[in-house]
Amino acid sequence: MFVTFEGPEGAGKSTAIRSLATALEQAGYSVLVTREPGAGSFGKKIRALLLEQGDVVPEAELLLFLADRANHVETIIRPALASGTIILCDRHADSSVAYQGYARGVDIDFLKRGNSFATKGLKPHLTLLFDLDPVVGLQRIGDGRDNNRLDHEPLEFHRKVRAGFLDLASQEPERWVILDATKAPDALCADALAEIQRRLSR
Ligand code: TYD
Repeated sequence: MFVTFEGPEGAGKSTAIRSLATALEQAGYSVLVTREPGAGSFGKKIRALLLEQGDVVPEAELLLFLADRANHVETIIRPALASGTIILCDRHADSSVAYQGYARGVDIDFLKRGNSFATKGLKPHLTLLFDLDPVVGLQRIGDGRDNNRLDHEPLEFHRKVRAGFLDLASQEPERWVILDATKAPDALCADALAEIQRRLSR
């Protein structure tokens, strides 16, 4: 099963993914934790290019995210899926639509086509949206902002990202589950685990 985690900065995805991986492994599943951008050695190089400070035009930014995704899907995600592993992926195609599309202004239809080109049509079975007001998210990450070029975008950018995710979730309600990321980490993780287990038992 391919599960993606989406949401604004500071929503607690990474912490939840670590706890979920432990819980699922204890239940006997094989689990792969991965992320975009930055999986594998090629992905790490692209991640460094994407997140360091400096000017990059939106089109170049998008193509780098898509390059990372194409390589990630083909070399890491598909083989893991084929072996029956549960994949917990911190951000994926929907982040490009929310960040580069809704917030940055790149054409959404083009983005969706670009995503299906990069993934050769592979879609997550479940996408968990860690929904949070960006004011709270940015406060939570505090000094960590220095590490990521996109964190430095103005609040209005992050509001558009959030609205974008909510819009995407409303378009595909079967794939998406919206979680309240203001909850305490344990409660949030329990909600996420319940959703994954529900799908696994189908
Ligand atoms: P990261 O440090 O992984 O952030 P987070 O912990 O919030 O997931 O940085 C990834 C950044 O890249 C984040 O700001 C979201 C952004 N991003 C895009 O703009 N487009 C994309 O397609 C992806 C995958 C991420």
